[in-house]
Amino acid sequence: MSSAQGKVTLPRLLRMKAAGEKIAVLTAYDAGFTAALDRAGVDVILVGDSLGMVVKGGGTTLTVTLDEMVYHSRCVASGASRAFIIADLPFMSYPTAEAAAQNAARLFREGGVNMVKLEGGRSRCEIVRFLVSQNMPVCGHLGLLPQSVHALGGYHMQAGDEASAQALLEDALGLQEAGASLLVLECIPARLAGEISRALRIPCIGIGAGVDCDGQVLVLHDMLGMGAGKRPRFVKDFLSGAGSIEGAAAAYVEAVRAGQFPGPEHSY
Ligand code: KIV
Repeated sequence: MSSAQGKVTLPRLLRMKAAGEKIAVLTAYDAGFTAALDRAGVDVILVGDSLGMVVKGGGTTLTVTLDEMVYHSRCVASGASRAFIIADLPFMSYPTAEAAAQNAARLFREGGVNMVKLEGGRSRCEIVRFLVSQNMPVCGHLGLLPQSVHALGGYHMQAGDEASAQALLEDALGLQEAGASLLVLECIPARLAGEISRALRIPCIGIGAGVDCDGQVLVLHDMLGMGAGKRPRFVKDFLSGAGSIEGAAAAYVEAVRAGQFPGPEHSY
């Protein structure tokens, strides 16, 4: 079966990694955009807490509530027929394993998602292990962690020195060992992201992490050229020249699959 057909499942994403087939991921927050991305062949739709910035208009993701994530997840699930759906656990919704499980369960039960994502490394492993033991698949998120923006002092590249690169690799291995099935790597040097992607069995999805990841993700508004303020280095506008939103998403899917996006100019 070609990658353009059939419902995308977790085993299928793992097979794509094993086969060296790149995974195309975009964020979405409602049914209409989701349907267009789904028709364009996007494999995974992430209901990102980036909605705090691109939908609600805030400067961070920290204002997003679990109720909002459930609402937008349900909207996205209504629009998808092929894509696999991941939703972010929002800020402070996973302080303990038990709280994480109760909150994640709402995203699965009421939101209709297929996987939840949480930010952080080895300190989150116990939470990941518990969610997985309750049959809730988990995506990790390492590198630039938007929910830690105040602790990090802004949005900028992470793991630029040898010690933090080694720590990040160990975080990635720890999350995989705890049972995470997917990993987002945000804003880290391309060389490190390539090394982590080769070291892990699970698919690593990059954003500002170079072309050697197993897949790519962009925020929908960014790839449609709608981002406010200075455009981050890793963003490319796929709408200009594409003629339609579905065409832009199809161009993105094609560029990701062919290893043509991101280029060196989009990487660190
Ligand atoms: O919230 C989000 O959209 C994300 C992506 C930037 C990976 O986490």
